[in-house]
Amino acid sequence: MNEMAKLSGFEHLEHIDIPLPKEAATELFFQTDEDDERMWMPIGDNVWIRPLLFNVVQGTWCNIVKAKGAGLVGRHRHPAPVLGFTLEGTWGYLEGDWIGRAGSFVYEPAGETHTLVVHPDEGYMKVLFHNMGPILYVDEKGEQTGYEDVFTRIEMYKKHCESNGLGEAFVDNICR
Ligand SMILES: [Fe+2]
Repeated sequence: MNEMAKLSGFEHLEHIDIPLPKEAATELFFQTDEDDERMWMPIGDNVWIRPLLFNVVQGTWCNIVKAKGAGLVGRHRHPAPVLGFTLEGTWGYLEGDWIGRAGSFVYEPAGETHTLVVHPDEGYMKVLFHNMGPILYVDEKGEQTGYEDVFTRIEMYKKHCESNGLGEAFVDNICR
């Protein structure tokens, strides 16, 4: 019997037992409040990410980004949309006209170029991002200077996890 079916108060409800199609990817569930610091990978000064899911079929990924003080993510363009939900702190884009606060949601359309900064109100931020595609780093004229996609992220995170003892398997476990 699974954990939910064992809950008292639900005994009168019949749970459906439809198996996952055999072609489907496996489900992924974990608690991030049991995280240890090694799971956070630095991606710049005062900026860390905690990858949650790498989707190698769609080329997308989901991660929590945290930053403090002068932490920033350099100017970049998104050729595919990004969804963001603020968990803690205050942040925004140098190019934007809003301040992200706990509970705020943002949809960044394909084609947007911006520079992420921590807003001094709280001096730190923790935001859940779902990147629907790669990140293109650009110069002040918008010319591409570099990129990151799901595969460069996986490679980077594997190196990080190998070096701190979590191991490559920790990363493989969150790939679908
Ligand atoms: Fe961005």
